[in-house]
Amino acid sequence: MTLMVNTMNNMMNAVGYDRVRAVQWHGDRLRLLDQRCLPQQERWIDCHQVEQVAQAICQLAVRGAPAIGIAAAWGVVLAAQRGAPLELSLKQLRATRPTAVNLVWSLERMKARMAIADDVASLEREAQAIQEEDLMANRHMGYLGAELIETHADVLTHCNTGSLATAGFGTALGVIRAGVAAGRIERVYVTETRPWQQGARLTMYELICDGMAPTLVADSAAAYLMQSGKVQWVIVGADRIAGNGDTANKIGTYALAIAARYHGVKFMVVAPSSTVDMDTASGDDIEVECRNPDELLSVAGQRMVVRSAQAWNPVFDVTPASLIHAIVTERGVIEHPSLPAMRTMFACT
Ligand code: MRU
Repeated sequence: MTLMVNTMNNMMNAVGYDRVRAVQWHGDRLRLLDQRCLPQQERWIDCHQVEQVAQAICQLAVRGAPAIGIAAAWGVVLAAQRGAPLELSLKQLRATRPTAVNLVWSLERMKARMAIADDVASLEREAQAIQEEDLMANRHMGYLGAELIETHADVLTHCNTGSLATAGFGTALGVIRAGVAAGRIERVYVTETRPWQQGARLTMYELICDGMAPTLVADSAAAYLMQSGKVQWVIVGADRIAGNGDTANKIGTYALAIAARYHGVKFMVVAPSSTVDMDTASGDDIEVECRNPDELLSVAGQRMVVRSAQAWNPVFDVTPASLIHAIVTERGVIEHPSLPAMRTMFACT
């Protein structure tokens, strides 16, 4: 009984940490917190047309796999409200970013709703359900993931997987929030996440808003951090988890997983079931988005590299399931992921 009350209190505390809502539906427009401007500026974009939502996804004003899916669902509602051709709108939204399967999952769900009833109110209810379910999934995953972590652990996270990247609370960052609230996690290290700096700009912002004291490290410092024995867990999100458990996530995740295995550090992937793609057999079949090399050649809009230089800018990589200690979803935890274990949990996904 005492244990249950403590767990409830911890969850309440963890929920209290979580204040940012980056994707907001206002009845006739979608308000997005422009993540390109954070933390210097809290600028909001009002999308009145589906094209504006598609543009916001392409340009990373809204980013993070679940948030992209949620924004796209609201994009479909805007298209229906404005009388735009729905099939074309779905196509436009689908073409924005290739790696995060939450986008396709969400559009498929809206399409299935349209097949039953394509009136605006019905589509609005579906988009609302997608958003609310994501928040509930995150809170549950936070609890499940935190349970895996021994007390007094220090952890490393990569990219931004928090409220900004989801409907709220976050995936990997949700586990960290729940783990800190439960007194299991002491120190949180955050990689800066070159080139777009999701860790430095967004995760640091979220955790500091929560009143925590996270420590930023350069991406290139992560292996040394592990070698120094400073972290027991690496906790990351995912953009697509293939049928065998191979996981696409922010570029640099694979390198972290290799370093973690070498140094005996555990590696946790946290993602809702909407990130699981049982139709993709393995990581080899995941399309990795390559973005404009200018994102790498410049820092904060200022050119850093000699003119005429070329760059290769893949923004995701694939971590083999064999390097993952646990995949945490709202349906449960899979330790040492494999095709049979994934099939058992996600046969209906
Ligand atoms: O390019 P981004 O910022 O959209 O990439 C985000 C990530 O890779 C996240 O780790 C992933 O989407 C999970 S967010 C809960």
